[in-house]
Amino acid sequence: MNYLLRLNQLAQHFLFHPIVENFDQIILEQLQIDIKARYGKHQLKNCLMVAPGQMTTSVSQIEKIKESGFAGCVLKSVVAEDKKGHCSMVKLRKKPSYVETVYDEQDIEGRYPIIHWDGGLDLRNLDDYLNFAHEAIKLNSSDFLVAASILGHLPSFDSDFNENEWIYTTESLYSIGYRIFEIDFCPFLKEQNELMNQKTILRWYKKIPVMIKKIFKDIQVFPKIMNLDYGVDFQIKMVESCLAGGADGVVIGNRIYKTEYGCAHGGIELRKRNLAQISKVHHIYPDASISGTGGIYTGKDIVDYINAGCENVQILSYLMGKVKKPFLKNGNRFQQVFYQLMFDKETGYLFCLLKQKEKYENC
Ligand SMILES: Cc1cc2nc3c(=O)[nH]c(=O)nc-3n(C[C@H](O)[C@H](O)[C@H](O)COP(=O)(O)O)c2cc1C
Repeated sequence: MNYLLRLNQLAQHFLFHPIVENFDQIILEQLQIDIKARYGKHQLKNCLMVAPGQMTTSVSQIEKIKESGFAGCVLKSVVAEDKKGHCSMVKLRKKPSYVETVYDEQDIEGRYPIIHWDGGLDLRNLDDYLNFAHEAIKLNSSDFLVAASILGHLPSFDSDFNENEWIYTTESLYSIGYRIFEIDFCPFLKEQNELMNQKTILRWYKKIPVMIKKIFKDIQVFPKIMNLDYGVDFQIKMVESCLAGGADGVVIGNRIYKTEYGCAHGGIELRKRNLAQISKVHHIYPDASISGTGGIYTGKDIVDYINAGCENVQILSYLMGKVKKPFLKNGNRFQQVFYQLMFDKETGYLFCLLKQKEKYENC
């Protein structure tokens, strides 16, 4: 059975045709590879998701993400409010004053864009955001996941949480159908030096899952781990705190805030850092669900994340930044990226999985 030949035929076919709903079944039948994945208890048709950010702020973007073959997406994070519209973290609803694409030094062809920007979370108030989220969840289906992401009140160590903000926002999203919640800890929190000490951070990571899960029993909560400068042991402690608080898993991890840039940075540096963390976390907590994000530009990067212990991966910069080298496929950016990640002849996900399978079968 020449699977490589079949893969090339599929690559040729999907170069000119849209990705179909039963794409995963076709791959299973033709290549004997099961590309199904998970996000906690939720089954995904493959492991490719779009990360929360500027590519998940409108319904039309989410329609395109779904049509292009991705298994799901996480909405741009909302800043939590209570019933009266009080919003402790309103500062994080900030408009960017610049957005720039930069490239790592070794990326001479400009294939792997990194976004530098100084914006924060979603700009809308909760009512406006809920109108959007209500339309977006209609695209949720058995083969496409739409997940939520929240950032609510984060107090200093000696102060209480404004629980009403967390609870009211979760409840509002829950009532329109959301069941998977990421908790964002925006890299711009690093600008709030008075809050960013280890004790305070570990308290946030533990208490937030406790607070939300005690009320909404059938939701899944995945805090996003910040990339801080306290060393890898502290990175693991953040994960430990989430799991002790009842989180269903973690997202590893958010971009690295760099004072010299005044913004958060991604790319190869982020990917290497995340992969090292994920391997450790997976070793210590083999049952914890891990969603991987950061610096994913090829199918090989995806395989590295999965082999390190992730259930799925989330991509943003590759979808948003300027890619100077032409894509293999014509179409919108979601279609181009999905195709490239799956079918590139050297670094495509399917190509890498085939190689991995052959190696295993020849052992
Ligand atoms: C412009 C921009 C906006 C983002 N907004 C959010 C957000 O609202 N919530 C969140 O959890 N992560 C946010 N992120 C982080 C991304 O979801 C993603 O985890 C991170 O950028 C790493 O993936 P990448 O290297 O593919 O971009 C944002 C990132 C960028 C570049």
